[in-house]
Amino acid sequence: MSGRVYFIGAGPGDPELLTVKAMRVLRSADVVLHDGLVTDEILQLARPHAVLRDVGKRVGQQSVTQNAINRLLIESTAWANIVVRLKSGDPSIFGRAGEEFGALRGAQIEFEIVPGITAAVAAAAQARIPLTDRSSASSVFFVTAHKADGSYSIDLQAFTGGQRTIAIYMPGGGYQSLASQMLAAGLAPETPCLIVSNASRPTQQMLWTEIGRLAEVSPLEAPTLLIVGSVASSPSETHVASELLRSVSEISAVRP
Ligand SMILES: C[S@@+](CC[C@H](N)C(=O)[O-])C[C@H]1O[C@@H](n2cnc3c(N)ncnc32)[C@H](O)[C@@H]1O
Repeated sequence: MSGRVYFIGAGPGDPELLTVKAMRVLRSADVVLHDGLVTDEILQLARPHAVLRDVGKRVGQQSVTQNAINRLLIESTAWANIVVRLKSGDPSIFGRAGEEFGALRGAQIEFEIVPGITAAVAAAAQARIPLTDRSSASSVFFVTAHKADGSYSIDLQAFTGGQRTIAIYMPGGGYQSLASQMLAAGLAPETPCLIVSNASRPTQQMLWTEIGRLAEVSPLEAPTLLIVGSVASSPSETHVASELLRSVSEISAVRP
């Protein structure tokens, strides 16, 4: 037998944010190789007799090597019809997907990609902010400080000019280093910064701050994502007032 591999984006955690296709393929999988960030609610959608294996990487812990994951993928297709590689968010964003695609291509194994909602998009949706704005943010960058050799640094020079939004994945354990890198790259201390932890999950937390104060902030529980730029301004009183007006009009609208 030669099974087919599906790279599925599990989204940020809420099962309702899976695509219809992701749900359908997951429900028919014989093998599910998943990352540590995929929530139990999503794993429970797999068939009871499907083989589930956590192949997630964890900082500072012994985890399955990338070569071993590649081998597992290839070997599973020898006996399983549908092999799902379930990754948090979207499989193509900061998920080492390229290495796994390469291994499957090398072994001439068919694969398909089912996109998912990436953390930056989910975090912005939970905060009810846009990632772009035609008057203040004409571009958005998805960046990470986490390098393959374990070091943390971002080449921020490329993103500091003009009107832009920066979504920072895997910001690391403390924000001091990120804050000083952003200031050194020329970002103004008053640049708004939103930290979203566990977007779309019951444990979700949000903190609205600015770059100049980021170093004082105690890190929120992982996984966290930072959104930097004018779109991440704390909701203003005007915004709160308009939300109140909206609720009042919604209440009036349902009144007989
Ligand atoms: C290895 S990367 C995987 C990214 C994923 N492929 C995506 O598209 O969202 C893991 C990082 O994604 C971010 N992340 C994933 N899920 C998140 C969530 N529910 N809330 C906040 N950040 C999340 C965090 O920055 C985390 O450290």
